Amino acid sequence: MTIGVCYFPEHWPRERWATDAAQMAAAGIDVVRLAEFSWAVLEPERGALDFEWLDEAVATLAEAGLDVVLCTPTATPPKWLVDERPEIRQAAPDGTPRAFGSRRHYCFNSPAYREETRRVVSRMADHYADQPSVVGWQTDNEFGVHETIRCYCDDCADAFSAWLRDRYDSVDHLNEAWGTTFWSQRYPSFEAVDPPRPTPAEHHPSLRLEYARFASESAVDYNRLHVELLREANDEWFVAHNFMGDFEPLDAHAVSDDLDLVTWDSYPTGFVQDRRRGTPTMDELRAGDPDQVGLNHDLYRGTNDAPFWVMEQQPGDVNWPPTCPQPGEGAMRLWAHHAVAHGAASVLYFRWRRCRQGQEQYHAGLRKQDGSPDRGYTDAVRAAAELADLSEDDLSHVDAPVALLHDYDDWWALSAQPHAPSFSYWEHLRTYYRALRERGVQVDVVHPETALDGYDAVVAPSLHLADEEVADDLTAFVEGGGELLVGARSGVKDPYNQLHATLAPGPLASLTGLRVDQHESFPERVERAVTFADGTDERTLSWRVWGEWLDLAAAVPLATHSDDLAEGKPAVARNDVGAGTVVYCGVWPGADLAATLVDRVLARAGVATTRRLPAGVRVNRRGDLTWVTNFSSRSHRVSGGEAVVGRRTLGAFDACAVRTPLGELEVEVEADGDERA
Ligand code: GAL
Repeated sequence: MTIGVCYFPEHWPRERWATDAAQMAAAGIDVVRLAEFSWAVLEPERGALDFEWLDEAVATLAEAGLDVVLCTPTATPPKWLVDERPEIRQAAPDGTPRAFGSRRHYCFNSPAYREETRRVVSRMADHYADQPSVVGWQTDNEFGVHETIRCYCDDCADAFSAWLRDRYDSVDHLNEAWGTTFWSQRYPSFEAVDPPRPTPAEHHPSLRLEYARFASESAVDYNRLHVELLREANDEWFVAHNFMGDFEPLDAHAVSDDLDLVTWDSYPTGFVQDRRRGTPTMDELRAGDPDQVGLNHDLYRGTNDAPFWVMEQQPGDVNWPPTCPQPGEGAMRLWAHHAVAHGAASVLYFRWRRCRQGQEQYHAGLRKQDGSPDRGYTDAVRAAAELADLSEDDLSHVDAPVALLHDYDDWWALSAQPHAPSFSYWEHLRTYYRALRERGVQVDVVHPETALDGYDAVVAPSLHLADEEVADDLTAFVEGGGELLVGARSGVKDPYNQLHATLAPGPLASLTGLRVDQHESFPERVERAVTFADGTDERTLSWRVWGEWLDLAAAVPLATHSDDLAEGKPAVARNDVGAGTVVYCGVWPGADLAATLVDRVLARAGVATTRRLPAGVRVNRRGDLTWVTNFSSRSHRVSGGEAVVGRRTLGAFDACAVRTPLGELEVEVEADGDERA
């Protein structure tokens, strides 16, 4: 387990580097990431590659005992290159090229940019191939940040036509598969299919889904170019990429197939403001939402079975969300422990020192711009010391009993036709995730084609494009004794984004024992109700945004609509199949309905849980330890033996680890706890 930092030696005088390196080592930092935006410094003009400064920076860090992760510098093509080859630039949907002046202004499909990438990456990789303190690489930086996965330039238009030609036998097949008779959209050739550029009304959903796939695959392919060049130079390096939180346009599973290590960048107090619905509470503005962050940890842990890293961890206040509160006292330590609890093998704070220049002057570092320690520094030092004391057994693997199924194709298809302004695939998935995490259950977030036999329960919030193969796998899982919970909008469309000829849930109809008779959507403020009754319990519970009326065949009702038009119609139903059970929930459940359904699935599956945890508190089992993280400003008491990390009385934004197994653990709000939440 290591703690690290992202560092930009090129921003500071050379005389300072040794002091920075010594201070990093003294802080318990072991690994430093460098050079992701350094192209203009590495190559001030064409061909004048200058590694001297970077050699010295790497050597200075190595002398202090620090490992280095280098980055390919392609996220920021320099001005001379953009001027010389303007065709490398991305284009906005209306065709306007992205101007020089920030970052990520290049196109993944530009043949010119691929040529330049090959040149700079191979030169850099060859230069560092024998440098022992360079342990691995990050490709580029955050593919897709600032909405840059989907480009609309002419190179992309050509590449899209070629991509379609590979995918369909003939343009007739494409016309048939998409259903282009609608609004006279028939295409005479593959070349005639343009990217979805601005139109009076929305674009055809099949085109939108295919363009989403094509754009994501373009980034996957571009990443592969880096990976191959790096492996050619030294196949002992690990190659990683830093993904983002709650990020739709790039299929991280597909990119990760080419990587040795999956990493992501975590900024909890920004995420609650710019990529989650609902007004953040004061506690969330101070420390973020543990389930929003946790879902990303679990997604990136799940992608290629390897331990993941947090390549960039928020170090203090940041510059880019709408507002930038100071994180709670201790939050930077809390985030490191929370990441480790979810399986992280390393957490690197972004950045070492607040920058005096450029766009991120208002972004904290572990140290202030005058070099003195900032608030995050104290937290990072403490986290590093606590983690250094843990053994390998303490930190062995995360053994998740539940799989949450997630598929980017479903996400893209539902984003093309959400059918309600507030229908979000990811928020809907997070409703179920939250219900699982409220019970302390560890979750793997995996693709529906993943082998499911190792799991006790599977939750599939929206298998929108489920096909026969997925239906067969899930049927085998349930017949063999697995517990399955399937959510709304499953089995609705085929892979080309056309409605199935049969009613939803299409291929899942026989497994779930029902059909969807009607669906309806509402503004988010409208709350609707169902009556839940399972023989032992009867309650009124709420749902919002999306609701279906079910026609039951083999299934029995678990909840029926209790409002006006839909009154009495089944909304949730259960079907026993072989040795297991499947529950289909046709509404976007409120927190209590989701908890009710998830609790029953967990109980039937025999999964160990905690009691429903207090708000902001989450529990994780990893190896021999149970971690308790408190994202709230209230104090809590944790039952059980001695704390191995921290103390069993958790203060605001605090974390501890105990050996007590999950099922025996109690977490209670301290009677005199501060109620600022
Ligand atoms: C990340 C990015 C970093 C930096 C950081 C600021 O998205 O990778 O380069 O911009 O945000 O929080």
